[in-house]
Amino acid sequence: MASDSNDTIPSKIKAWVYAERGNPVDVLKLVPDVGVPELKEDQVLVKVVAAALNPIDFKRALGLFKDIDSPPPIVPGYDVAGVVVKVGDQAKKFKVGDEVYGDINEKALDHPKQHGTLAEYTAVEERLLALKPKNLSFVEAASLPLAIETAYEGLERAGSSPGKSILVLGGAGGVGSLVIQLAKEVFGASRVAATSSTGKLDLLKSLGADLAIDYTKENFEELPEKFDVVYDTVGQSERAVSAVKEGGNVVTIAGAVTPPAVQFILTSTGSILEKLNPFLESQKIKPAIDPKGTFPFSQAPEAFSYLQTGRVTGKIVIHPIP
Ligand SMILES: NC(=O)c1ccc[n+]([C@@H]2O[C@H](COP(=O)([O-])OP(=O)(O)OC[C@H]3O[C@@H](n4cnc5c(N)ncnc54)[C@H](OP(=O)(O)O)[C@@H]3O)[C@@H](O)[C@H]2O)c1
Repeated sequence: MASDSNDTIPSKIKAWVYAERGNPVDVLKLVPDVGVPELKEDQVLVKVVAAALNPIDFKRALGLFKDIDSPPPIVPGYDVAGVVVKVGDQAKKFKVGDEVYGDINEKALDHPKQHGTLAEYTAVEERLLALKPKNLSFVEAASLPLAIETAYEGLERAGSSPGKSILVLGGAGGVGSLVIQLAKEVFGASRVAATSSTGKLDLLKSLGADLAIDYTKENFEELPEKFDVVYDTVGQSERAVSAVKEGGNVVTIAGAVTPPAVQFILTSTGSILEKLNPFLESQKIKPAIDPKGTFPFSQAPEAFSYLQTGRVTGKIVIHPIP
């Protein structure tokens, strides 16, 4: 028998939905009576407290992945922080009342869920979740899963290890701000360099970058210094391969791939979050949220428009919900 909380779970909930693909600001509608997602046996139902946006949310809405996407209507949103209110028959890891966070889509592009996190409740396989670090707010926790898991998986794939030097392209973005921190604090990089525009150089330093490169004034590939690892979050792999040492590795998460750079698509798993929780609890790794980046539920379309400028610093989070 599935167990649930004493609080009544409503049968109809509020959610942002698009019935057809297009620009989020045009197609997103706030629907007051969406059905609560049905719980599979390995899932838990989460009362959403905060949900973060990622570029994939608008790329998906625009139809960039429509051949491998689930059909509309779609409730967008991958990232969630919230409270478990119901536990599926085979779910053993969490109990009702646990505060959790995670990226609810195991395969980011392969038929992600129709019912995402921009809703009052969301259903998610428990293996994709971890307990929320106690010191983090729900907003901070929601900002992390997809971006920090991508940062971690990319550094691992690039063979990052203690003593290596790393160049991060796009150090001020959702993923880049975490790559800088993980490189230093988790993978033991000896030196971290990162790129951004002029106004964000101080942020790069505060995140732990030893060298902050202003891409409006300098071409990183023309620096005399070369790096063991280049982590490209911008879509500059053609240039990135000129910045890596012989025998080094380039990993890219956006745009076209120029060998020997390699690209990957994140596989979401709660186990990476569990591994990183001690670093979050000791504040060695800190969430980076855009100063204008917390939007109430009613302003989700405005949050999408801001994300689509490509100038966001760190993350955008939707809170409170509803
Ligand atoms: N493959 C995967 O599994 C995976 C996972 C996550 C994300 N992604 C993709 O990776 C990309 C980055 O994601 P994100 O969440 O980090 O995006 P984001 O937060 O929207 O990135 C915005 C940041 O990019 C910086 N930026 C833009 N152009 C730049 C340039 N030429 N050089 C340096 N920095 C630049 C901006 O800083 P300035 O204002 O200073 O320019 C801004 O702070 C997106 O395309 C996303 O879809 C892929």
